[in-house]
Amino acid sequence: MAFPPSFVDELVARNPIEDVVGQYVTLRRSGANLFGLCPFHGEKTASFSVKPEKGIYYCFGCHKGGGVINFQMEIEGLSYPDAVRALAKRAGMAVPEDEQYQSRYQKQERLWALMKEAGRFFNERLYAPEGEECRAYIARRGLTKAIVTQFGIGYAPNSWNALVDAMRKKGYTDEELQEADLVGEKNGRIYDRFRNRLMFPIIDVRGNVVGFGGRVLDDSKPKYLNSNETLIFNKRKNLFGLNFAKKTKENAIILVEGNIDVVTLHQYGFDNAVASLGTSLTEEQVTLLARYTEEVILTYDGDAAGQQAAKRAIPMLEKAGIKVKVLQVKDAKDPDEYLHKFGADRFRLLLEDSSNRVEYQLNAIAKKYDLREDDQKVQFLQESADLIATLSSAVRREVYGGRVAEKAKITPEAMKLEIDRARKRWLDKEKKKQEQIDLAPARNLQPKSRTIRYDNLKSARAEEGVIALALKEPALLDRTEKLPESAFSCPLLGRAYAMLKQRHSQGLEVSLAVLEDFSQEEMSHLVGVSQNQQFPVNEQAFDDCVAIILAEHQAATVTSEDDLLAFRANLKKRKGIKE
Ligand code: UTP
Ligand code: MN
Repeated sequence: MAFPPSFVDELVARNPIEDVVGQYVTLRRSGANLFGLCPFHGEKTASFSVKPEKGIYYCFGCHKGGGVINFQMEIEGLSYPDAVRALAKRAGMAVPEDEQYQSRYQKQERLWALMKEAGRFFNERLYAPEGEECRAYIARRGLTKAIVTQFGIGYAPNSWNALVDAMRKKGYTDEELQEADLVGEKNGRIYDRFRNRLMFPIIDVRGNVVGFGGRVLDDSKPKYLNSNETLIFNKRKNLFGLNFAKKTKENAIILVEGNIDVVTLHQYGFDNAVASLGTSLTEEQVTLLARYTEEVILTYDGDAAGQQAAKRAIPMLEKAGIKVKVLQVKDAKDPDEYLHKFGADRFRLLLEDSSNRVEYQLNAIAKKYDLREDDQKVQFLQESADLIATLSSAVRREVYGGRVAEKAKITPEAMKLEIDRARKRWLDKEKKKQEQIDLAPARNLQPKSRTIRYDNLKSARAEEGVIALALKEPALLDRTEKLPESAFSCPLLGRAYAMLKQRHSQGLEVSLAVLEDFSQEEMSHLVGVSQNQQFPVNEQAFDDCVAIILAEHQAATVTSEDDLLAFRANLKKRKGIKE
C-alpha cells in the first residue's frame, strides 16, 4: 500500500533509527556511526552498524539492511503497513488509513482478543464443577495454583460446543473462530477442537496469546493437540515460556522438550526455561533465542529421541554464536520428573555440572563402542580425535585428548599424535574450503541474495556506483539527463535509481530509508550497495559510471540490431533461393 510520501518522510524523521534500534540492540558509538551485535544473526563481535545521519542500518555479517521501517518489519516480523503503524504509534502520529490494510490489522487485533478470551474461558472452566478431573490431574502433576495462574493454564471442557457458545456470546463470528483454529467444521457446523484437555496458552514475546497446546488427562492419543498456523501464530517462530524467560536475570536459557517441563521449572524457580513447540528446534527459534541469550543449556529427555534432538540442536545453536551446554538428567526421564523427585537444589547442581558440548559429544561417541574390542577401540579413538582436532585451543585439545587416552588405556602421547594428524587433515580441509571461496571472484561479484542476479557485471558495478554516489551526494543526480532507467542492466538498481531521481527532482530527501515497494531482500541489497566505498565522491567518478552504463547498454542494443540485420539478410537470401 502506498502511504503518502510526506507522511512516510515525517514518520522516518520522527523515529530516529538509533532510538528504534536501540530498543533492541545495545549500541556503541564509533565516530559518526553506532555498532552493536546483530539482532538478526547470532554473533560475538559487532558487525551491525547504524548510520544515524543516513537513517539506515546494515550488518556486515548477514548483509541485512534498510531504513527504520525495514528494521521494524524485520525485528518484529511485521508487514510493511503494520511496521508503519507501530512506528506511528511510537511517535504519536495518526496514520492515513487504507481500507484493505486496516481490515487486516483489525483482523489480527480481533484474533488476539479472541485468543485471550478463549484462554480466560479455559481458565475459568478449570475452577467450575466440570473442571474437577482436570484439577485433580494438575494436583497429581504437582503444579501449584500460583503457577497455573501465572501461565494461564486452563481446562477445555468435554463438550462439542462450550467454547463456541461462549465466544459467540462475546460477539465473535464463526469465521473468526475458524481463523483462530479453535474449532473444527463438519457439514457446515463448527465444533470445539479442544475437548477434555489441559490447556497451555502459547504467548508470544509481546504478551499476546497466539495459540494453545492441549494435553490429554490420561494416556490416550494424541497426547497433545496444538494450534495450527494462523494469521497470528507461527509455531516455527515462537517458544513456549519465552514471554517469561526473556525477563530472567540468569545468563543462560534452559531449553527443554515439554510444556510441562517448562511450567515445573518455573515453579521451582528456574524462570529461564523454554520449550520448542512440539517441533524440533527451528532456525527461527534459534534466531529468537540469540536475541535474548548468549548461552543455552540443552536439557532434552534422556531417551533416544531426546538425545537425537540434542545432537541436531547443538550445531544450529553454535552457528548462531550461542554457547551450548548439555545437561543430562539422571534417574528421571525429564526435568519435570527430576524436580519432583529430587528438588530444586539437586537440579541446580546438575545445572552447574552441565558439561560443555565437547564432553557431551565425547560421551556420546564412547557410548557407541565397546572398548574391550580392539577394532572398536580404534574407531573410538579416531572419531574422538577428529572431534578434538577441531578445537582451536591447544590446552583444550590436550586435556580432552588425555581423558580419551585414559578411557581407552593408551598413552597420552599416542593420543596426541593421533589428534595432531587429525588436526592437520582438518586444517587442510578448511583451507581448501576457503580457497574455493577466494578463487571465485566472479561469483563474489554477484549479490549475496539468491533472488537478485546481475546479468552484466561490468554495467552492474557502474550502476551500483551511480546509486552509492547519488546517496552520498544527491546533487550528482543533476548529471543524469541522458541516463534513462531502461539503460540499467539490473532492473532492481534501475528501479531504485528512478525513485531516487524522482525524489531529487521533487525536492524530497534522497535516502533509502524512505523508499517503499522494495522487498526486505531488495532493500538489504540496496543498503549493501550504498556501503560501497570504491568510488570517490566526485563528478568524474559519477560521470564515468554513467558512461559505462550507457556504453554497455548500447553494446547490448547494437548487438541485437546487428542480429536483426543479419537475420533479415538471411531471410532474403533464403527467399532468393526459393524464388
Ligand atoms: P512430551 O511427550 O515430553 O510431553 O512432549 P510433556 O509436555 O513433557 O508431557 P508429560 O511430561 O509427558 O506429561 C514434549 C512436547 O512435544 C509436544 C508438546 O509440545 C510437548 O510439550 N508434543 C508431544 C506434541 O506436540 N504432540 C504430541 O502428541 C506429543
Ligand atoms: Mn515430557
